[in-house]
This record gives sequence, structure tokens and C-alpha cells, in this order.
Amino acid sequence: MRKVTFGGANSLDNFLARPDHSVDWLLWGEEVAAVMADYWKTIDTVLMGRKTYEVAARSGQGAGHPNVATYVFSRTLPEGSHGGITVIRQDAAEFVRILKGRDGGDICLMGGGELARSLFEARLIDEIGFNIHPVLLGSGIPLFQPMSRQIDLELRECRAFKNGCVYVTYRVKD
Ligand SMILES: NC(=O)c1ccc[n+]([C@@H]2O[C@H](COP(=O)([O-])OP(=O)(O)OC[C@H]3O[C@@H](n4cnc5c(N)ncnc54)[C@H](OP(=O)(O)O)[C@@H]3O)[C@@H](O)[C@H]2O)c1
Repeated sequence: MRKVTFGGANSLDNFLARPDHSVDWLLWGEEVAAVMADYWKTIDTVLMGRKTYEVAARSGQGAGHPNVATYVFSRTLPEGSHGGITVIRQDAAEFVRILKGRDGGDICLMGGGELARSLFEARLIDEIGFNIHPVLLGSGIPLFQPMSRQIDLELRECRAFKNGCVYVTYRVKD
């Protein structure tokens, strides 16, 4: 079955972005670029919540990637495909369960935390991969939101980058 990985970059204190959605604290480098380039070869589908999509669209990155199906989940946007993305109004868990049962490459859950919470609750996330940044933002948009149960993880990989980030991947033991 296709693997769903929830991945991205976070602050050590569990934020994906500042309260105003800015990510000026993100550090880039060759090491993370290489990890990303390898990862993109394994996937053919991206999932994102409406808020993540809107932030990406505002920064000019809202178009889908060629050869990658991009689904945006929203109960408020009109359903349909445009500009390389497809808006899904149906409940995300139901849609992703069907998607995982179809043939294809792996699936990247880009976030944000709100969409991820629904998919964790539905036991649809197989792996987590985050580039943890050496900063405590103090406030912001949470990566992991409160959930109804404990989720056990198995460490797969842990690499310290020269810029002080730590890249970790875990298998979800659900
Ligand atoms: N640092 C990183 O790597 C990274 C990665 C991703 C995102 N981000 C940032 O995270 C922020 C957004 O994250 P967020 O957690 O606030 O929001 P989000 O998960 O991106 O979007 C939430 C929205 O998605 C829709 N949604 C969520 N669960 C759903 C479900 N089960 N079924 C159908 N629709 C569902 C709803 O849209 P409607 O309200 O339209 O119904 C909901 O309001 C942005 O600032 C983004 O830039 C950062």
C-alpha cells in the first residue's frame, strides 16, 4: 500500500510557522536540499489543508508540481481542479483511505497540523519526517495538535545538519 508521510520543517517548540504564517526562520542548505530531492522521487501525490494551500498560493507556490497530483482539502472552497491542484470537499480521511488503496507512488502530507490531526486520528499516516530547527519561536501554528490517543513511533533516521537542524524520520506504529 502507498505510504503517507507527514513531512516538513518545524521549530523545536512544535510550530510550523509564526502566528502570521511567516517562515523567515527556516534554514536552507545543501544537506536538506539533497534529502528533499531524493524524497520527491518517491512520491506522486501531495496532500494539503486549505490554509497551507492559501499561504503557498500567496507566495506564488500554489501551483501543483508537474507529474504530482496535488489535493487541497477544504469544506469551504469550491470543489474542482484548477492551476494544477484539485480541491476536495469530501472528508479528508475517507478520500485518503481510498487513495491509499489505489496503485501509485508514495504520498506526501505537506500539512498543516490541522489536516494532519484528522489523518492521524484516522490512522492513515505511516511515517513522519521533520527537519527540526534550532529555535524556540514562542508562539505560532502548531505542528502536532491535541489528539484523542497516544501514538507510538519507531525512530528510522536521525541526522544532524551543519546548520544546526536535526532531520528525523519515524515510523508510526499504529
Ligand atoms: N513549516 C512547514 O514545513 C509547513 C508545512 C505545511 C504548512 N505550514 C504552515 O502551516 C500553516 C497552516 O497549517 P494549519 O494547521 O493552520 O492548517 P491546514 O491543516 O493547512 O488547513 C486547515 C484547513 O484544511 C481543511 N481541513 C482540515 N482537516 C480537514 C478534513 N478532515 N477534511 C476536510 N478539510 C479539512 C479545513 O479547510 P476549510 O476551513 O476550508 O474547511 C481547515 O480549515 C500555514 O502557515 C502553512 O504555511 C508549514
